[in-house]
Amino acid sequence: MVERYIRFLGLEGTINLLRANEKPLTPTIRVNTLKISIQKFLNRFNKKGFVCEPIANIPYGFKILKEPYNLGSQHEYLQGYYYIQNLASMLPAIMLNPQFKDLVIDMCAAPGSKATQLAQLMQNKGTLILIDRNKNRIPALRVNINRMGILNSMILNYDSKNLKNLKIRAQKILLDAPCTGEGLIREDSSRKKSKEISDIKKMAKIQKRLLIAGLETLEPGGELLYSTCSIAPEENELVIHSTLQNHPNFSIIKMPYVMGISGLTNFDGIALRKDLINAQRLYPHIHDTIGFFMCKIKMLY
Ligand SMILES: C[S@@+](CC[C@H](N)C(=O)[O-])C[C@H]1O[C@@H](n2cnc3c(N)ncnc32)[C@H](O)[C@@H]1O
Repeated sequence: MVERYIRFLGLEGTINLLRANEKPLTPTIRVNTLKISIQKFLNRFNKKGFVCEPIANIPYGFKILKEPYNLGSQHEYLQGYYYIQNLASMLPAIMLNPQFKDLVIDMCAAPGSKATQLAQLMQNKGTLILIDRNKNRIPALRVNINRMGILNSMILNYDSKNLKNLKIRAQKILLDAPCTGEGLIREDSSRKKSKEISDIKKMAKIQKRLLIAGLETLEPGGELLYSTCSIAPEENELVIHSTLQNHPNFSIIKMPYVMGISGLTNFDGIALRKDLINAQRLYPHIHDTIGFFMCKIKMLY
């Protein structure tokens, strides 16, 4: 793993990454403005002794600097006033930028961090189709949808590789793809050893099939946001580069704002699509987040 990191981060970058992976993350929450105003929420939370620091560019996102009680056992949590969500995970929904009237599909939705945020951004309007293949993860998704007061969604226990068979076209699609989770080492150190290069290759095949299914379900002008909590180029830029080779009517576009550093436009001596520069990578040592990747793809015609 370290050898692979050196290939795209260099020696110094890799050392910095490994060091940053050992530092605990500051907990972050997303206030659910469908249920409570930010000011009312802060008044309640401040009274309890929590210290909340606003996150730049995310008006409803807060770092919790002082946590006198467990975040997951507060009345406000059970009432759906907030979601405990790491900062990087708040970005894909913002970057996808769904509108009230859109038909939006979340292809890999459980347990619903990003799905409930999509609904929040859509102000509970439009249509949100939430799909997950794993039956065991559907109850958690349902609980979160109910807790957060989401009214514009339907849940499907379905394999998104077969999305085309549903015969629908979406304006916006989120593909928060299953991945090796290499970027989550900071949250779970067991991930340092749990994945092999063979796992990366296996995931890349699934990611490509899901990406093709997503692209073929967009309506002209529609947009798909691809994200993973992996920093492996094989699960990110290489998946997108090889898939788009057979889909010339798509382009990688800029996201509403820049939080990470640019995607790779070459890897291991292979030149990749130039528009991958519009993708964004987040790293623990640079952005103080988990390792994360995002890329926004638009159907041109
Ligand atoms: C990274 S997690 C999604 C996390 C979720 N987006 C969130 O923000 O809470 C990936 C999800 O993809 C689901 N998945 C894997 N393969 C799938 C497929 N072929 N079709 C639909 N869902 C799939 C997994 O069950 C898992 O819940």
